[in-house]
Amino acid sequence: MMSHRKSGEVNASEYNKMWFQIWDNGTTRWDKGDVSPALRELIVDKRWELPSGQGIVPGCGRGYDAMFLARPGLHMVGADLSPLAVKAASTLRDSMGIPADLASFQVMDFFNFDIPASQFQVAYDYTFFCAIHPSMRADWGRRYAKIMSPGAHLIALIFPIFKAEEEREHGPPFLVSEDDYHRVLDDNFELIHIDPKCQTHDSRVGQEIISVWRRK
Ligand SMILES: C[S@@+](CC[C@H](N)C(=O)[O-])C[C@H]1O[C@@H](n2cnc3c(N)ncnc32)[C@H](O)[C@@H]1O
Repeated sequence: MMSHRKSGEVNASEYNKMWFQIWDNGTTRWDKGDVSPALRELIVDKRWELPSGQGIVPGCGRGYDAMFLARPGLHMVGADLSPLAVKAASTLRDSMGIPADLASFQVMDFFNFDIPASQFQVAYDYTFFCAIHPSMRADWGRRYAKIMSPGAHLIALIFPIFKAEEEREHGPPFLVSEDDYHRVLDDNFELIHIDPKCQTHDSRVGQEIISVWRRK
């Protein structure tokens, strides 16, 4: 993956070109081929009660998490910049027999799309906050505040909280901390759940913390 310095600013449309290239080249090395274990644990084992309505997974990639969250009463939108990602996710959904009216995949820029009048009641953010450039984080927080309705749940799987010394100044993925999320969410969201001992993908042990933030 192309490497950017953590400091400074990037031009968003230039930065976005990197994602098209990654998908065109098929170098989606982040893809674990399954639902995030921490999300599954939260919903299945811990029986987290999700609001009903409409949910969104920005930067959904092949859509495993959006498909997992979709259920009667909660329609999920998987959003990705890349048409190849959206095609792959839609094909996978169809092969799994999940109806398109439960999970739909759309080419969308998270920072710039028409917000439905009802807004979103659920969002899942994983490998997205760390994928955007750190100079875009304040916009990320403001955007979630805009698209989510009062009482909505933003589930954020905080990742990666650890990186080898020599990789810390570069990304994506960019190193993150719980404080980085507080800094951009606290004005409009309240942290209602956090579990640093959550289950993780085998190769991400010690790198993930699951959290849920409620839109004020
Ligand atoms: C690191 S990948 C993670 C994909 C997926 N969440 C997963 O874990 O498999 C980040 C994804 O975000 C998408 N992306 C990056 N910027 C985006 C934006 N502004 N709006 C929507 N998707 C974006 C990229 O195309 C890429 O598929």
